[in-house]
Amino acid sequence: MYSRISGTGGYLPEKILTNFDLEKMVETSDEWIRERTGIEERHIAADGQTTADLGVEAAKLAMEMAGIDKNSIDLIIVATTTPDKTFPSTACLIQQRLDIHGCPAFDLQAVCTGFVYALSVADQFIKTGMAKCALVIGSETLSRITNWQDRNTCVLFGDGAGAVVLEASEEAGILSTHIHADGQYEELLHVPSGPSKLPQTDEIAERTMSMRGNEVFKVAVNTLSKVALDTLKANDIEREDLDWLVPHQANMRIISATARKLKLRPEQTVVTVNKHANTSSASIPLALNEAVRDGRIQRGETLLLEAFGGGFTWGSALIKF
Ligand code: ACO
Repeated sequence: MYSRISGTGGYLPEKILTNFDLEKMVETSDEWIRERTGIEERHIAADGQTTADLGVEAAKLAMEMAGIDKNSIDLIIVATTTPDKTFPSTACLIQQRLDIHGCPAFDLQAVCTGFVYALSVADQFIKTGMAKCALVIGSETLSRITNWQDRNTCVLFGDGAGAVVLEASEEAGILSTHIHADGQYEELLHVPSGPSKLPQTDEIAERTMSMRGNEVFKVAVNTLSKVALDTLKANDIEREDLDWLVPHQANMRIISATARKLKLRPEQTVVTVNKHANTSSASIPLALNEAVRDGRIQRGETLLLEAFGGGFTWGSALIKF
């Protein structure tokens, strides 16, 4: 028994913030941002628009593509670092908005690796017969935990949501998932305060993302190359047999480094970081959705998903689409 992606959906808020807009907010330049990250613009949620709002839209589109009735959904997992409320979970809020009642619904927090973690968990539910049709969503409003006065971080992130419907299938789908974490790197990338650890001194800095970008960059490049190659090896798949890399979209240089290790042609990598920036757990399902809907990714092709994020957490999924 496999779990197989039967539908994808994505949603981006209307408002676009360009690098030129950021030039007016902090001391930066379009050239610096593009050269170091590949980012040109990002979407920002409107006032009052929440993670659940974005997630609901992505979920509806994924369910429509899968051609399923809402009553078929028997598991909802939402990967997010920016929940609407401390509780109930964003998954419960989305469940209610989709008029689905009774099935398990929970949030999963693994920052930028959140979607890969959520896919891995949903895959186990389906393989063990605990669920038959799961809604797996990555949704974020990172703009709410961004310090808009800190040029080291504010140029990097954006808001959005992506979703997939994962169904039990006799046909090959998710071939394997690999998830990891190492908490020793906590302070290289974190939000210093939270519901249980209140801000002590600088309110804005402690409620928003803080990152030692250069150090994160080095660990990310090495870790992602390793997890990508290990995943192919674990499945006895050669690099030439891979059709697509659908990476977490944090930085074009990190994406290219992994693609080079896999000896992929540039056109085999799905890139959205230029238009979306880093949307954390939403970035992979948004990229997947874009390439599925524009016809690049076809049924039967082999995809490698990979991500790295705060924690540190990292992971991959090898998929027969
Ligand atoms: N505009 C202009 N200058 C800037 C900006 C900015 N927005 N931000 C930093 N600088 C300056 C720094 O102050 C520094 O100046 P100094 O030399 O006078 O001190 C200089 O640029 C170089 O800074 P570095 O941090 O060394 O620049 P680097 O080449 O490492 O690029 C970046 C920074 C883009 C953050 C890079 O390290 C990176 O992408 N790291 C990965 C982090 C990441 O993607 N995190 C997201 C979550 S984890 C993940 O998803 C992978």
